[in-house]
Parts: sequence; structure tokens; C-alpha cells
Amino acid sequence: MLTPLLLLWPVSLALTWLVAQGLADKPFDRALEYNVQALAQLVSLHEGRVQLNLPQPAGELLRADDADTIYYQVRNGDGEVLSGERDLALPPSTEDSRPPPTGEVRLRDAELRGLSLRVASTWVRFTPPQAGAPQVQVLVQVAETRSKRSVLATEIIKGVMLPQFAILPLAVLLVWLALARGLKPLSELERRIRARRPEDLSPLDDRTVPLEVAPLVTSVNGLLGRLQESVATQKRFLADAAHQLKTPLAGLRMQADLAQREGTSTEELKRSLQQIGRASKHATHTVNQLLALARAEVAGKAAFPKHPCDLALITIEVVQNSVPRALEKRIDLGYDGPPAGLAGAVVPGNPTLVAEMLRNLVDNAIAYTPSSETEPGVITVRLLLDPLTGFAVLQVEDSGPGIAEAERERVFQPFYRVLGSGVDGSGLGLPIVLEIAALHGAEVTVEDAHPGRQPPGARFSIRFSPPTRAPLV
Ligand SMILES: Nc1ncnc2c1ncn2[C@@H]1O[C@H](COP(=O)(O)OP(=O)(O)OP(=O)(O)O)[C@@H](O)[C@H]1O
Ligand SMILES: [Mg+2]
Repeated sequence: MLTPLLLLWPVSLALTWLVAQGLADKPFDRALEYNVQALAQLVSLHEGRVQLNLPQPAGELLRADDADTIYYQVRNGDGEVLSGERDLALPPSTEDSRPPPTGEVRLRDAELRGLSLRVASTWVRFTPPQAGAPQVQVLVQVAETRSKRSVLATEIIKGVMLPQFAILPLAVLLVWLALARGLKPLSELERRIRARRPEDLSPLDDRTVPLEVAPLVTSVNGLLGRLQESVATQKRFLADAAHQLKTPLAGLRMQADLAQREGTSTEELKRSLQQIGRASKHATHTVNQLLALARAEVAGKAAFPKHPCDLALITIEVVQNSVPRALEKRIDLGYDGPPAGLAGAVVPGNPTLVAEMLRNLVDNAIAYTPSSETEPGVITVRLLLDPLTGFAVLQVEDSGPGIAEAERERVFQPFYRVLGSGVDGSGLGLPIVLEIAALHGAEVTVEDAHPGRQPPGARFSIRFSPPTRAPLV
């Protein structure tokens, strides 16, 4: 605040100087006008000749002033100087180039032998008594130097400036005091934030802060709220993950203890080993899914390098790799889409992650679609390309029980599993799908594959935006 105040000071001085000069001119101009009118009254026409009847003391008075030199001049209509100072110039001609009317006094600034002057001029006109004789015009001018005016202007400036010397430091002091007072609640807020423990994400009290800062505190509170939510989600995720891992590990230990008991038959030993095999498979699967989710999340946090992903190629590979599992369950697994190598099927992204996403959907379809010799399950993996809009849509459609409308949002939450499917799983497949889709700017939807039919079947669609929206890096 000090810098602008100090910068404003010279500006205010310059303005005061201009105003003071205008003010100082006024009374002296009035006196000058009076002088020129008085002098004009002394001019007369005597037998056709112009005369100036200047009494001696008046002449003295005109010439003498304590501070300024005064000049006068009388000229006739031809511009010939009749009396007074010869070098005083004529007034500049007016716009219409006619002399001003009789009695009107004009003021102007002029110079005489290097001196700056203020000049008042007026015209006197006489009509000679003889009929037909031309009118006689006389110009009367009185000029004075400007010392009185400068002295008054300086006095005015001094009168204004001296109080400013006192006012300026006072203003600085007041501003400083006001700022210190106004910022006190902020320092208090800063102290409170500093004193917080890292885990304390409760909102800041916005009642004790100045009105101007309230929106800032509100937005910080909004951020704290979101942070709290995100921390809570992470904590919940960790707890769920730990629980998911603990269960199969506890099963492993129990089965190992059972197997080590004395007198265990070969049959029981075999069963325990089978259980151990299943539990370790489940634990490995959960760990793999957690790692896949972590990989997708880590990729989303860093600037994620994008490569061309041929959706047709990736889909065909995933479908081929899943054929043995589908055959095992007597499921008819097929691919419906264009061959690999088509330009329209290439989107920017990470091919490994896209394959991971698709594998999860196909795995789900195989796992949750019942199949028997009489009623074989059907899974179709489809790739649709829209040449007009450039959108590419991947679909995984099955003939299974489908997903009830109420569950469609929840199945995408980590560790959420629909009860009663009788299938082992960790509940992380669809969150992985969602995370990878988001990374690629794609949208995931789920609907009934055959609405109205029983079972309706599930259809998961992943809609990729045209490549122009997400350019290759
Ligand atoms: N194609 C489908 N048909 C019917 N239900 C499904 C289908 N896909 C998923 N679901 C339901 O959604 C739930 C969540 O699926 P998700 O893939 O996230 O987990 P999961 O399959 O149980 O475990 P994971 O995939 O990690 O092994 C599943 O438990 C299942 O009930
Ligand atoms: Mg799954």
C-alpha cells in the first residue's frame, strides 16, 4: 500500500500546482481588467485626434507595483502606437477576424523581451461629430509580469503540501493498523490450520473469518470433504482387500492343521489337499485382481502413454484364449466383428489394459452363464464400428441370468458380489473394467441381452469415443 501512496503523491502535487495557478490568476485578472477599463476611459477624441489624458500620478501608478512591472499601450485603428510601450504586440485576431465589441475586455498570455506577461485589451470607438467622417477605433492594452501570481500560486501549494507531510504518514499508519486488524482473523485461521493433525479433515469454521475470505474457506471445506470421502473409500477398500485375502489364507491354515492331525486317512488327506489347492487358487486370483486394479489406477495417475490398440485384434486374441474354459463349460463362445487390421477399429490406449478389461467381461460371462448339454450357454463378443461417428463399441453378451436393474450400479463397486451365483470370485472384475474404460475415455453400460426373455442374459457395452478426441501420444 505504501508504494501506490508514494506514487500518488507527486501526481497530487502536479494537480495542485495546476489548480493553484488557475486560482492565483483570478483576482489579478480582475484587477488587470479594471485597469484597462480605467485607462480606456482616459482616451478621448479631440478635433479628430485621439488623445490620452494620463495624469502623472496615474501613469506612475500604472508603471509601479511592488512586485510586477506594468506596461500599457494605446494604438489607433491603423495599428500605430500612440502612447505607452511600443513592443507590446497586437492581440491575435479572433476567429471571425473582426475586433471585439467596444468595452469588452479580452485577456491573454504574451511575451515581451523574454518576460512572460498577462495582457488585457479592449477597443474604444468614437464617432466624429462631422457627418460622413469614418469611425475612429482605439486599442488599449495593459500588461503585467507574473511574479505576484507565481508567489500566490506557490503560497497555495505550500498551504496544501505542508498538511500533506503530516497526513501521509498518518494515512500510512492508519492503513497499516486497519490491515493488521483486518488480517488478524486470517492469522488466527492460519494458526488453526497449522495446528491440525494430518488425519483431521473436519471442515474449517467459516464464521470467524472475514466476509471476503468466506468463499475461500467454503471451497477449502469442499476440498476437505472430498478428501475425507476419498480417504474413507481407500480405508474401506483396504479393509475389504485384507478381509478377502485373510479368508482363503485362514482356510489354508485350517486345512493344513486338519491334514496334520494324527490318524488322518488318505481320503481325508486328499480332500484337505484339494481344499488347500482351491483356497490358494482363490488367494492368487484375488491378489492378481488387486494388482490389475492397482496397475490401472497407477496408469490413470501418471500421464498415460497411448499406443494404437487394434480392438479387433485384441478381441480375437482374448476370445481365443478363453475358448478352452468355454469348452470346459460347454458354452458356445463366438466373435462377431471385423477382422484384425481395420483402421476404424484402432483406438489410442494401452493394449494390455484393454485386453485385461475384455478378459474380465468374458470371464464373467463364462463364469455366470449356466450351460448344460441340452441347453448350452451362448456368449457373443461383438465389435461394432460406426463409420459415420467414428465410435467403436465392444459388447460381451451372454445367455445367463443377467443383472437385475437394482444391482447394475453396485456390481461396479469393489468387492461387491451378487449373492447366490455359486461362483468363486473376488468382486474386483467390474471395477477393473470401469477403471480401464475411464482411462480410455470409454463408457461402460450394462443391460439385458434379450429383454423379456427368461433368462434375459447380460450385455456389457464399452463405447470408445472417436480417436480424434483422444490423440495418440
Ligand atoms: N455376465 C454376468 N452375468 C451375471 N452376473 C454377472 C455378470 N458379470 C458380473 N456379474 C455379477 O456382478 C458381480 C461382480 O462382478 P465382478 O467381475 O466385479 O466380480 P467377480 O466376478 O465376483 O470377481 P472377479 O471378477 O474379481 O473374479 C458378480 O459377483 C456377479 O454376480
Ligand atoms: Mg468377474
